[in-house]
Amino acid sequence: MDQNNIVLEMRNISKQFPGVKALDKVSLAVHAGSVHAVMGENGAGKSTLMKCAFGIYQPDEGEVFVGGTQVHLSDTRDAIDAGISMIHQELQVVRSRNVMENVWLGRVPYKRVLGVKWVDRKKMYKDTIALFQGLGIEIDPKANLARLSVSYCQLIEIVRAVSCDAKVIIMDEPTSSLSENEAELLFRIIRQLTSKGVAIIYISHKIEEILQISDEVTIMRDGIKVGTWPAKELDNRTIINRMVGREMTNRFPIRNYASGETHLEIRQLTSADPKSFQDVSFSVRKGEIFGIGGLIGAQRTELIESIFGLRAVKSGEIIKDGITLHNTCPRDAIRNGFALLTEERRETGIIPMLSIVENMVIANQAINRRRYTGKAGFLRSKMRKADTAKFVDALSIKTPAISTQIKYLSGGNQQKVVLARWLLTEPDILILDEPTRGIDIGAKYEIYSLLVEMAKQGKSVIIVCSEMPELIGMSDRVMVMCEGRVSGFLEGDQIQDQAIMHLASSYENNKE
Ligand SMILES: Nc1ncnc2c1ncn2[C@@H]1O[C@H](COP(=O)(O)OP(=O)(O)OP(=O)(O)O)[C@@H](O)[C@H]1O
Ligand SMILES: [Mg+2]
Repeated sequence: MDQNNIVLEMRNISKQFPGVKALDKVSLAVHAGSVHAVMGENGAGKSTLMKCAFGIYQPDEGEVFVGGTQVHLSDTRDAIDAGISMIHQELQVVRSRNVMENVWLGRVPYKRVLGVKWVDRKKMYKDTIALFQGLGIEIDPKANLARLSVSYCQLIEIVRAVSCDAKVIIMDEPTSSLSENEAELLFRIIRQLTSKGVAIIYISHKIEEILQISDEVTIMRDGIKVGTWPAKELDNRTIINRMVGREMTNRFPIRNYASGETHLEIRQLTSADPKSFQDVSFSVRKGEIFGIGGLIGAQRTELIESIFGLRAVKSGEIIKDGITLHNTCPRDAIRNGFALLTEERRETGIIPMLSIVENMVIANQAINRRRYTGKAGFLRSKMRKADTAKFVDALSIKTPAISTQIKYLSGGNQQKVVLARWLLTEPDILILDEPTRGIDIGAKYEIYSLLVEMAKQGKSVIIVCSEMPELIGMSDRVMVMCEGRVSGFLEGDQIQDQAIMHLASSYENNKE
């Protein structure tokens, strides 16, 4: 690549946190008008490096140059002034505000009327429309954010970064919650931006996506840079091996599933919300891994949340082991042997200020009090620590100690803690919404193995999953939904990309 058009250069950046050396002399050069991908396992230091470029962290050593000039970024304001923008791994939108207020967050336009300062809503609306049109996005600027899905919130963050006229936009796992269509839209936006000379730094665990969109790829491992290569010279396998530092042969554990008796039966379940799912019937057997496929808007999350007692249903039955259940709230559901790993883990999952131990045992403690309390009612910290340590080990959770506050863990490691929380309750029916979102390849395999292990013990696992390879690689049977209805079931060899996509978009064809 042309050495003259480097917009952002980081030289020998190091950053130490208590107990971890997150970055060790990492250098990175990003060219104008290109997409530079950064890859690495959970905890490799990707987000930390980017936070140093965006002024959130100050490196212990090393220098940052923008357009050839050294800059000192003491906060994000400095970074934005220098032309750097960042879309975070964790959503940064304000749910109580509407779309346009979020786009212009902290920068709302004002007008003066009779000497008084007013928010210029007209201008805000007009500017938002112009931005959306330029990027081909169709969202009502006045829509209430509380009612938009995670993916739309993500698009809004992207628009916000674009609106800052940045020279470099850092995207930390931007597509982890986007559907394939929305990811396509994002790629279109990225191409538009690079053609105007903007540089994109792109962090993702999705290798196929990286190979499709990026010009150069930097791979990190344990706080060290392994190297930077043109994307053309890389393939799936080389990336994995350089990331993990060892040879990985299988992406999914091999298993033999022998069909068991019916465990859970859902009969004609219909949401109380008329816009959501209707008339959904399916059954899951003991020892089965049951996948639910579909596009965004298929109401899959709504369906499983209703089964778990988080949303009201109008009619229908939930039958487990022949007994009709009433999961009117999550506590009922947990008592009835259900567990649900939600899709948006930062909002509904972690408790940032508490330790890994607290975060991990919280659900089990609620239903299994005895396990953690001694005779006098005191908490038995030994048991809590033992349970936590077991899963920190089983899922290779990267942390200096189990007493560390969870907010200090990397994104992927936080998710592993939340997953462990549910595994600890030893549910009969484990429901997971996008179980490996944001989790690296090596850890994915560990999670898959755990799910297979649970199924082997006669439990049922239900996964809602938008990533095709995962849905196909893991499921014994797949139910596909479209616009709130079941559009079909696939089993064994029928579980294939095209068949799933066809059903996911073909409810129209099935309507008769
Ligand atoms: N504020 C902090 N305090 C203490 N430790 C931290 C802090 N931020 C990050 N770390 C640690 O630094 C290491 C690198 O974390 P980082 O978030 O950069 O990883 P990552 O590559 O982005 O991983 P992921 O793919 O899971 O998002 C991890 O071990 C993490 O626990
Ligand atoms: Mg990260």
